[in-house]
Amino acid sequence: MGIPKWPISGARERELLDEVLSSNNWGGYHPMVARFEKEFASFQHCRHGLSAMNGTVTLEMALEALGIGEGDEVIVPAISFISTATAVSRVRAAPVFVDIERDTFNIDPRRVREAVGPKTRAMIPVHFGGPMADMHSLMQIADEHGIPIVEDAAHAHGSEWNGRRAGSFGAFGSFSFQNGKVMTAGEGGILLSNDEALTDRAREILDIGRRKGEGWFFHYTLGTNYRITALQCAVLIAQLERLPEQNCLRMRNVAAIREQLADVKGLHFQRVPAAASVHTNYLLLGWVDGDRGAFHRHLTAAGFPCTPFYPHTLYENPLYRERKNCRAMPCPNAEARITDAFWIPHRALLGDEFETEALASAMRAAAAA
Ligand SMILES: Cc1ncc(COP(=O)(O)O)c(C=O)c1O
Repeated sequence: MGIPKWPISGARERELLDEVLSSNNWGGYHPMVARFEKEFASFQHCRHGLSAMNGTVTLEMALEALGIGEGDEVIVPAISFISTATAVSRVRAAPVFVDIERDTFNIDPRRVREAVGPKTRAMIPVHFGGPMADMHSLMQIADEHGIPIVEDAAHAHGSEWNGRRAGSFGAFGSFSFQNGKVMTAGEGGILLSNDEALTDRAREILDIGRRKGEGWFFHYTLGTNYRITALQCAVLIAQLERLPEQNCLRMRNVAAIREQLADVKGLHFQRVPAAASVHTNYLLLGWVDGDRGAFHRHLTAAGFPCTPFYPHTLYENPLYRERKNCRAMPCPNAEARITDAFWIPHRALLGDEFETEALASAMRAAAAA
């Protein structure tokens, strides 16, 4: 039984790439870049887009544009890819690791409230695996304390919270287009915002201190060069055109898998709040009561991709283990998920009904292993 390959490309990518290749500008100033920024920002219900080399530097730019630096603290979930935390450390601020909800895998707003202190300058919720974090509660805390939110939406292209899309709640929303993401150009990222002044500040950092409408050799702030290429944006425009249909297909397939496995004892899936029911299914997340090693071995032996979750919480990564310039709140839920959770990548959720049925059957057998 074949698992769909990823990434997927077609005639549309080639057509748009040709447009760039036949021009005399393949870099960040080709109109294809502004076109992609406009299209993706509008798709995510945002006014401004600023595309960049990847979804790590977009987080760093967001924090720098917000003026966050030494002596400041930024709240992050204990479970994420490392960039969510390193972005904070790279601007010389301190990440404060906060527990996740045991069943949604997303940052727990009650724990965020406990972690807010006099040095807190921002929080970075991650929409982990696709379903958005509880933006209603997080926005309330942010408003009460006057701290901006940077949404790490690297998993959430098209995800919604009560009909409003990821990236449109916070001061910034950050997305990744790395090879494994649901839209990709191999590498790439974008920062979205509804705040023009903040976007301009981030643009100066990305474009080596240049200012809109000023000369090529005039540099006003200490920036760097994080520009994306027009070649990447050509591919991303084609990928965006395909995304809504793929998001729907994954939603349908995951609903079928979950229904089929509802009676399997000891196998649990990520809880998706009703407000977050439209999402990417970037990862099909779950956990097992029994032997996770056996579950993983059985599923991979049957030919299905499965990852036995992260090997550690962010604060137990070698970089943060000594707790240098960071703080870890008690995180029993994150620590439990490290031992029992798994994920299945989105490409396995893009199959036809026979492939989806085969995946569900293999999961049933793996849970009994
Ligand atoms: C949650 C999260 N944030 C940030 C990133 C960083 O994105 P990039 O790989 O494009 O730098 C990733 C993954 O790659 C991620 O999963």
